[in-house]
Amino acid sequence: MSLHPPADAFVFFGATGDLAYKKIFPALQALIKKGELDLPIIGVAKSGWGLEQLKARARESLEKNGGLDEAAFAKLTARLGYVDGDYNAPATFTQLRQALGAARRPLHYLAIPPSLFATVALGLVQSGCAENARLVVEKPFGRDLASAQALNRTLHQYFPEAALYRIDHYLGKEAVQNILFFRFANTFLEPIWNRHHVESVQITMAESFGVQGRGRFYEEVGTLRDVVQNHLLQIVSLLAMEAPSRQDADASRDQRALVFKSMRPLEADSVVRGQFTGYRQEPGVAADSTVETFVALRAYIDNWRWAEVPFYIRAGKCLPVTTTEVLVTLRRAPTSAFPLIGADDPNYVRFRLSPQVLMSLGAQAKRAGELMIGEPVELVARYMAGEAGLPYERLLGDAVRGDPILFTREDAVEAAWRIVDPVLADPPAPYPYAPGTWGPAQAAALLAPGEAWHDPTEAPMETPH
Ligand code: BG6
Repeated sequence: MSLHPPADAFVFFGATGDLAYKKIFPALQALIKKGELDLPIIGVAKSGWGLEQLKARARESLEKNGGLDEAAFAKLTARLGYVDGDYNAPATFTQLRQALGAARRPLHYLAIPPSLFATVALGLVQSGCAENARLVVEKPFGRDLASAQALNRTLHQYFPEAALYRIDHYLGKEAVQNILFFRFANTFLEPIWNRHHVESVQITMAESFGVQGRGRFYEEVGTLRDVVQNHLLQIVSLLAMEAPSRQDADASRDQRALVFKSMRPLEADSVVRGQFTGYRQEPGVAADSTVETFVALRAYIDNWRWAEVPFYIRAGKCLPVTTTEVLVTLRRAPTSAFPLIGADDPNYVRFRLSPQVLMSLGAQAKRAGELMIGEPVELVARYMAGEAGLPYERLLGDAVRGDPILFTREDAVEAAWRIVDPVLADPPAPYPYAPGTWGPAQAAALLAPGEAWHDPTEAPMETPH
């Protein structure tokens, strides 16, 4: 395993923000509970707060997001420190250096907008907080290929690549890791997992809610940058990659990166953008905004395994349901043996990633009676009623221990931007869609004739047993 030495202090910038409230405090409590975070924890933000306010915020965060564990919370608050100040002011970092005390290998987690990454990195360097330090940075890493390259260059002035941990919480999800495990821990999938047997792959990430007060942020990103360039392309990489040849972090990261490097940059006619009616009235959103809240696309991986197999990706806000699901459809059976089995009933492999975790195989079984007529059955390999684990617990724990396997390397993040870059540079106009629908009807035109977008609500949402 390519492990780096463990960190001896955990610093998080953006300590009073939304991400800290929803995800970071619950992850810290969970790590403390497991005995994996026995080190000073220092929050940094510019809110005019004191430590007591941060502790109160942490308590509230835990009560609202997964539950407070009094014993673990007591340890968390005993280890917690707070530095309040402007990220442009050297004094903020001098205070941080003092707060770090004897720590020699701090981890700095930037849970802040990417526009501030360079400022904070410089502040860390000038104050001596960057020596032997590790920098964990949130997505999106840049806003297109050029800005990601520039950001990499800037950060590399201060931190070697081995010290940079680019986080994507989808890689920390149990159900996402399951894809990789299921593929390579079994032998039955591998012979059919290629262009000879796979007709198409569909990935749907649907959210039934809108931008939830994040209008200003969303205006800067849109769906393509917010979830496709990172979360959904990471899912593609796990579905499509070759087996890593060794156990170490780079063997796996090499294979994930290779998928991105083999993907064809998107062309304008392979992308449909949509915007839900009412988006322009959201606080922080321009009255004439053309930012997409929905995107559907067709992508290709130009290698021997996947040539000409379409990977259809669809993501959006204000869709009918909240769920993320992968459907790998196999080529249809010839109908000559049982003509009454429709050619429309192909086998498929389903990975539902949320809100339940489901892995299943769609097949046809004979219906009772004299006629050779089939009915669809779903063979369930794994069913869990809820999402397992906290992705941030897994990822921040790995970052503290110094295991970069689930973090995205410079070459991979740039290759992923290269795929979406042509559309970001020249986006087709978004079509309007009504909230509660599956986005603009034009998305259907991306599919091959006779194919339809898969509706995850037609699959078992409750336990199938
Ligand atoms: C975030 C996006 O990265 O992922 C959000 O910024 C999105 O817009 C969220 O809602 C989805 O994450 P999850 O884990 O709830 O599927």
